[in-house]
Amino acid sequence: MTTIDIVAGARPNFMKVAPILAAIERLGLPLEVSLTHTGQHYDAVMSDVFFEQLRMRAPDTHLGVGSGSHGAQTGKLIAAYEEHLVRSRPRGVVVVGDVNSTMACALAAVKLRIPVAHVEAGLRSFDRDMPEEINRIVTDAVSDLHFVSEESGVKNLLREGISEKCIHLVGNVMIDTLVSQLAASADEAAGANPVGDYGYVTLHRPSNVDEPGRLREVVDVLSRVAERLPLVFSIHPRTSSRLAEFGLEARLQAASRIRVTGPLGYRESLALLRSSRVVITDSGGIQEESTYLGVPCLTLRPNTERPVTVEVGTSTLVGDDIAAVPGLVQAIMSGTYKVGGPVPLWDGRAAERIGRVLAGTWQ
Ligand code: UD1
Repeated sequence: MTTIDIVAGARPNFMKVAPILAAIERLGLPLEVSLTHTGQHYDAVMSDVFFEQLRMRAPDTHLGVGSGSHGAQTGKLIAAYEEHLVRSRPRGVVVVGDVNSTMACALAAVKLRIPVAHVEAGLRSFDRDMPEEINRIVTDAVSDLHFVSEESGVKNLLREGISEKCIHLVGNVMIDTLVSQLAASADEAAGANPVGDYGYVTLHRPSNVDEPGRLREVVDVLSRVAERLPLVFSIHPRTSSRLAEFGLEARLQAASRIRVTGPLGYRESLALLRSSRVVITDSGGIQEESTYLGVPCLTLRPNTERPVTVEVGTSTLVGDDIAAVPGLVQAIMSGTYKVGGPVPLWDGRAAERIGRVLAGTWQ
C-alpha cells in the first residue's frame, strides 16, 4: 500500500477533500490515506460542521496553526507540516484549492522532495492583489501532478511551462460534493428557508470587506436590493469583525429585509443557494455551485480565476461598479438575465478520476 497525505486547512478545502477520501475508499484503490488538518480554520462553524455533514473521517493529524498575518500563518504552517512529514514520510502529498495552507504544505513537501499533487490547479485571476493568486502560482510551480477543473486551467499551466503529461483535466471536486449532498440539502430547505423569493449573500474577500468605504458601499447597495428582494446574508468572521470595526453594524441592521446569519454549514448554505433567485457573492466555490444549479450569480469582483462560470455559467462579474447590482437583480427578476449551460466534466466524478491517477502514478 502506498501512503499519501491529504491536507485540508480552511473552509473551502473540506468540500474538496471529502469526495477524494470517499472515492479512494469506494473504488478500493491501493492507497493508504492519512488526513492532515492544519487548523487554519478552527471554529465549529468554520470547520467541525463540514466534517459532520460531509461524513469525513477525523483528521489523523491536527497541526493547530490558527490565524495570523499571511507571513506568520504561512511560516507556522510550513514549520509544523515539515515536522509532520519528516516523521511520517508519505509517498506523496495532496493539496487542494488556493488558501495559505495549500501553498505552505506544498512548499514543505517539495523541500523534502516529497511529490505534490494539486487539486484545482491552473486557475488564474491574473490579480496579484488577491492572496489566493500568489498561493495558486507558487503551489503550481512546485507541484508534480496538476488536477484541473476547467479548460482555462490547462492553458494557464501550459503557458507557465508545466509539462502536458503532468496535467489532468478531471472536472470539479466541489461539484462532486454538491451532487452527493443535494438530497440532504433538500430536507434542509424544507425546514429553514425563507418562504417566497429571496437572494443569498456571502462576502468575505479583503477587497470587499477590509476597506471602510467599500464595505459601506456594499452595505448600501445590499439595502437597495433588499427593497426589491429580501436577502439572507451569511456573514463570515472576517466580515463581521470589519462591520464592527468600521461602525457599520447599525447601518446593516437598519435594512429590515436583510436577514443576517453567521457562517452556515454546507447543507444549510446549499439549501439557501439552490432555492434563491440570485446569489451575490465573492466566493470562488459559490460561483461554481450556482453555475451547476443554474442560479444567477452576481460576483462582486473585477475578475475571476474561474472564467467558465461567466462564459458558460450563470455568473456576471460586477467588478468595482457595484451600483450596477440593483439593475442586474431587476433583470433577473424580470427574466431577462442570461441562462447558463453545463460545464464539461462537472458531473460528480472528478474525485474518482483523481484517485485513479494518484494510484497509477504513486505506486
Ligand atoms: C481564507 C482563505 C480564502 C478563503 C476563505 C474562506 C487564505 C489566504 N484565504 O480566508 O481563500 O476563501 O478562507 O473562508 O488562505 N477566523 C475565525 N474562525 C476561524 C478562522 C478564522 O474567526 O475558524 C477569523 C480570524 O479572525 C481570522 C480571520 O477570520 O483572522 C480570517 O481568517 P483567515 O484564515 O486568515 O482568512 P479568511 O478570510 O478566512
